[in-house]
Amino acid sequence: MSELEPQSSGSRLALVELTGAEDMTAALRKLQDQWGPVAPVDLEPGVPGWLVLGHAEVMEVMRTESVFARDPRHWSERLPLNSSLHAILSPAGRRALYYADGAEHRRLRLPVDEAFASIDEALTAAMVRGVCGKLIDSFAARGDADLIGEYAAAVSFLAVSGMFGFDEQQGIALLRCAHGVFGHGGDAVAALTTMDQIVLDHVLATRQNPGPNLTAKFVAHPNFEDDTEIVHSMVVAICAANEMLVTWIAATLRRMLTDPRYTGRVTGVRRGLDDAMDETLWGEPPVANLPARYAVTDCTLGRAQIRAGDAIVMGLAAANNDPRVRTEDDMFEAGNRSHLSFGVGPHACPARRPGRLVVKIAVESLMERLDLRLTDPDVTWAPSPWSRYPAVLPVAFTPERQHARTPARV
Ligand code: HEM
Repeated sequence: MSELEPQSSGSRLALVELTGAEDMTAALRKLQDQWGPVAPVDLEPGVPGWLVLGHAEVMEVMRTESVFARDPRHWSERLPLNSSLHAILSPAGRRALYYADGAEHRRLRLPVDEAFASIDEALTAAMVRGVCGKLIDSFAARGDADLIGEYAAAVSFLAVSGMFGFDEQQGIALLRCAHGVFGHGGDAVAALTTMDQIVLDHVLATRQNPGPNLTAKFVAHPNFEDDTEIVHSMVVAICAANEMLVTWIAATLRRMLTDPRYTGRVTGVRRGLDDAMDETLWGEPPVANLPARYAVTDCTLGRAQIRAGDAIVMGLAAANNDPRVRTEDDMFEAGNRSHLSFGVGPHACPARRPGRLVVKIAVESLMERLDLRLTDPDVTWAPSPWSRYPAVLPVAFTPERQHARTPARV
């Protein structure tokens, strides 16, 4: 079989068409049948890249930073000025672990690992429960809510910004910026600049008055050379957390509201919420298409001929469903933890435990209080090339009387 070359734009599928497909698994299978484990795609229309679909090939990319680098300066593409990909893929001058390789990455990664390892899980759980409780209070008396805009998005952001010691108002301001950074408008770069300023103000205030939070750990760490590195690292952590948590919470809630078999497993004796959340990670990884690595040299991956400077996206949704690592037999699969939803290799998620804690408390808090029913079974997916989650999740429930409060929608 001949090696693959990138196709001209027009014949390539855009990632947003995949995440928005009615049946994404079928769309991925079709790509796999056509191209094998590595397919040419458009990151956005007209911007070419490769989507890695095979489990082994995704592992190879994520573990071989000498060939597949994180640093976007290896990317040969010159994005149009108004491209929504700038903030995530081509952020000029960002100095954080997310954009670094080798020794530079390890220097910037250590403070993040140490800060997350120092988290007091009991205190964090109490803070997250408080956030969830207040958000539920804000709509409990109404008897209806949108669990994405009024809950999942806000919980994710307020919980993580709370870990960094931001107050609720600062958390909401940051969340508005994050919508701009991840959104499809042309304001992603402006949103990132505003976010930097809010974070810098908080860093300066924390240096004067440190508290028991992640920002204080960052500020005190000798590995950071200056405040810019601290700010950029915090912004990366806050943004990385946000999209992942929203998607994981949304997917878990949606399954519980639509799939009685799944709900039975959560509430039944056979398996608990943790296992059900893992099932979500397998089937609907919070980041379906993980951006990105850049080829440092010409190489072959699967059947594809990659050129130095090409962008490579890791298809975690496809890889998790690779029949080489996962069967369709539930009993056989119990305890299989080889999904790639937290990544692997040097950039693998440093915040698995706090991430799981937030999602679990967010789902439990709702289940304990409200008898939720989905009011519209049709789903519209949020327009993202990277993640697949419902834009809205409208529910009804028996209203509570005592908790009416100003809505916290952001
Ligand atoms: C408290 C919540 C979270 C925080 C603060 C957080 C933070 C981060 C940070 C800072 C990185 C970059 C690591 C590096 O470049 O060395 C990262 C990577 C990653 N995170 Fe998380 N994360 C959170 C939750 C999650 C969740 C819930 C998931 C999915 C289940 C997830 C999946 C990933 C993946 C796949 C990567 C790898 C990125 C890559 O290799 O390019 N994260 N996370």
